[in-house]
Amino acid sequence: MGHGIGQVFAAAGNNVVLYEPEVARAEAGRARIGASLERAVAKGKITEDERRAQLGRITVTGSLADAAAKVELVVEAVFEDEQVKHELFAAVVAKAPAKAILASNTSSISITRLAAALPAERRPRFVGMHFFSPVPVMPLIELTRGAETDDVTEAYVREIAAELGKQVIVSRDRPGFIVNRILMPYLAEAMHAYEEGLGTAEDIDTGARLGLNHPMGPLELADFIGLDVCLHIMEVLQAGFGAPYRAPPPALRQLVDAGHLGQKTGRGFYTYPRESK
Ligand code: 3HC
Repeated sequence: MGHGIGQVFAAAGNNVVLYEPEVARAEAGRARIGASLERAVAKGKITEDERRAQLGRITVTGSLADAAAKVELVVEAVFEDEQVKHELFAAVVAKAPAKAILASNTSSISITRLAAALPAERRPRFVGMHFFSPVPVMPLIELTRGAETDDVTEAYVREIAAELGKQVIVSRDRPGFIVNRILMPYLAEAMHAYEEGLGTAEDIDTGARLGLNHPMGPLELADFIGLDVCLHIMEVLQAGFGAPYRAPPPALRQLVDAGHLGQKTGRGFYTYPRESK
């Protein structure tokens, strides 16, 4: 999601630094933004000059020291591993200005716990800022305050969200926050139904698309999000809420164990590219 987040910040006129320890990955992210902007030009949504200006505001680096040196806001979007996030934020606070706002795009991990690992003076400026995929299209940011997040930080995120054209909802700091608390049991139930042979994958998804007017059915949405991401969030929910929360569906775990993570690996509940829906 990192490149999508960078794209919307650049579109709103901000200078963006994409940081990845392997700079080639940051370059790939910038190239994806470039391709997305080219499609936007082809569709007449932005001009060629706007495309050039937006891409020109995005730089890449493999050096955290360079990335963090002058930032006003850090948005972390690494994979959902609490330890990795702790290590990254520890490195960020060693380099970022004392006034920088530190935000995590975590989809389910406690903001209070992530903040607690930081020096005490940084915790008031730590906040959850959860974007939705595809970021340029989805108009929501879920804002979560940790136990020590201050009002200035919340106000800052609200202001930035307005600049990005995103609506804010506020969630208390509970596993999965609001959206994934609602979404994951729905996806899990569809996977259990699929495992039981209640219907084919296509019929389950068509049921949600045509019967509920959802843009994607639950199995194709899980493939789109990433099955590893879904499994991880379901595990966080199960660990956080305990019984009677249902364990993640075995079919999901098996696909993840096999390395079939959905669209990004070319296989999940479906194989990609799909011929038709
Ligand atoms: N970047 C920029 N724009 C994009 C895009 C991208 N990656 N993907 C799609 N778009 C734009 C297209 O350009 C198009 O714009 P237009 O209508 O102005 O021409 C519009 O979105 C629709 O795209 P398409 O016509 O190509 O395809 P669809 O109509 O099938 O829509 C979709 C694709 C927007 C992904 C739609 O299927 C959808 O909304 N799906 C549900 C997505 C969803 O639920 N996301 C949330 C996941 S949960 C999450 O992220 C939280 C995490 O913690 C798990």
